[in-house]
Amino acid sequence: MEPFAERRAKLLQQIGRNSIAVLFSAPEQRRSNDTSFPFRQDSYFHYLTGFPETEAVLMLDGTAQTSTLYCRDKDPLRETWDGFRYGPEAAREVFDFDAAYSIGEWSNHIPEALTNKRRLYALWGQYSEQDCVLMQHWSRVRQGAGQRIQANTYAPDTLADLSVLLDAMRLIKDDSEIDLLRKAGEISALAHIRAMQKTRPGMGELQIEAEILHEFMHHGARFPSYNTIVAGGKNACCLHYVENKDLLRDGDLLLIDAGAEYQGYAGDITRTFPVNGKFNAAQKDLYEVVLAANKTAIDAVKPGINWADIHRSALAILVQGMVDLKLLQGSVEGNIESNAYQRFYMHGLGHWVGLDVHDVGGRWFNGQPVLLQPGMCTTIEPGIYVNAADDVPEAFHNIGIRIEDNVCVTANGCEVYTATVPKEVAEIEEIMRG
Ligand code: GLY
Ligand code: MN
Ligand code: MN
Repeated sequence: MEPFAERRAKLLQQIGRNSIAVLFSAPEQRRSNDTSFPFRQDSYFHYLTGFPETEAVLMLDGTAQTSTLYCRDKDPLRETWDGFRYGPEAAREVFDFDAAYSIGEWSNHIPEALTNKRRLYALWGQYSEQDCVLMQHWSRVRQGAGQRIQANTYAPDTLADLSVLLDAMRLIKDDSEIDLLRKAGEISALAHIRAMQKTRPGMGELQIEAEILHEFMHHGARFPSYNTIVAGGKNACCLHYVENKDLLRDGDLLLIDAGAEYQGYAGDITRTFPVNGKFNAAQKDLYEVVLAANKTAIDAVKPGINWADIHRSALAILVQGMVDLKLLQGSVEGNIESNAYQRFYMHGLGHWVGLDVHDVGGRWFNGQPVLLQPGMCTTIEPGIYVNAADDVPEAFHNIGIRIEDNVCVTANGCEVYTATVPKEVAEIEEIMRG
């Protein structure tokens, strides 16, 4: 439980005296009638607590420098139906809170907790129902402070956004997080290898998805970190194709974008390979362009670098390839200037990855670009997508290629912790022959 308690201590210091922070667990999500989606804890709540249940509140009191959990009571009947609950007593001990109470007590405690605080931090906008409840408590305390309670009491006059502090913390992964990201990457990589080994013309995209999920679960990752994309042929030109409903055709490429979530942390790998195990000439030509962009970008990742510079170096390679292969006419610079390349490459080079697959943090802070620092983890995912059109060489019609790795910035460069899935043409062809 150490990293969770350490993070709370660090956040408590930052919010400082006269402040209080309130965070809510994720609510359960109804799927149909009386069934729900599998519960997934809110990423911020998990980051600070490790506590895996819904109907919980975390309060951080900056004046007392304490953290208090409110959670469901033990309930033998409900536990018989729905499974184990920690209850406050065990939760306090196991997750190392200063205090823990029944969730029912929260509304009794919150008025006093808000009284004589200047700032109320919360993740406003995250869960509107909870925002509302918290606002009502605050409003009542404010009214009371003005009228009924002793003259020298006051309510918070600033409602502050806790995500500013938490996102900055989450952007730099600590060692325990990097271990979990590595593990998520490793499991995701195994699943991609399995998919390469199992793929044959005539199989369904859905069958390949099943192979991927099998490998995730087999290694302890029960859920993917996002909906798995298994896109044969032209389906790959839809960036987030998740229907996975078509049959795989001899002669097509298959784009798979799949990542395991391991103990809350996301893997996010894409590989593109031939359904029949052998690239044709046009597929190989286009593939090599995307691969060169992927490798150049990865080589550029190190502390002090501006992400936009990495994006530009990868873009130059992609657009040079598009010009060489006659997808675009004119100069590389001209096509970049006019954004003409966006017809074939319409997404960014990557995103932070962590507890969320598209992790928090942003590429800018206070109008300045965020320079890479050790502990930041990002995807690198260049792609080229060519829909059929009269002005495009036919050999490239309906080909979509993306090659996505996950890297963690280190002291001198980066660790590519998804590197075990082959991405060289010869390696892919070999593993598929095997
Ligand atoms: N799988 C979504 C992405 O690569 O961003
Ligand atoms: Mn992806
Ligand atoms: Mn991604």
